[in-house]
Amino acid sequence: MNYEEMMKIAEEASKRAYTPYSKFAVGACVLCESGNTYIGCNFENSSYGLTICAERNAVGTAVANGERKINAIAVFSPDMQNCTPCGACRQVLKEFEADGGMDVITKIGDEIRVHKLDELLPECFKL
Ligand code: THU
Repeated sequence: MNYEEMMKIAEEASKRAYTPYSKFAVGACVLCESGNTYIGCNFENSSYGLTICAERNAVGTAVANGERKINAIAVFSPDMQNCTPCGACRQVLKEFEADGGMDVITKIGDEIRVHKLDELLPECFKL
């Protein structure tokens, strides 16, 4: 699956976001080493701190399906251009980064942008 297709899937996933508090929708699509993809959207809670981001939802679904290596993640928000993962999600993505690294794909207008997780999370903590 190419990055344009992943971004379309992330966009579809963002339509399922549950965001009664922030009204800020996010969708994500992860591509695993197996070739399988998994989606996630953010879902909020009236106890605000329990909110789960789209990226961590997608990673959790991948892990629950037996995946351990993620090559790429597409992130889309209808509410922000170039929506990159928050700091907490960057750390969670690092845990499952494929050996060759991970591409983080965002969108600005019609343009797809490819970031490296390494660049988004330099000198990170990893056991
Ligand atoms: N959010 C994500 O889903 N991913 C991000 O990378 C940034 C923030 C969600 C959390 C919350 O539901 C809303 O966006 C506003 O912070």
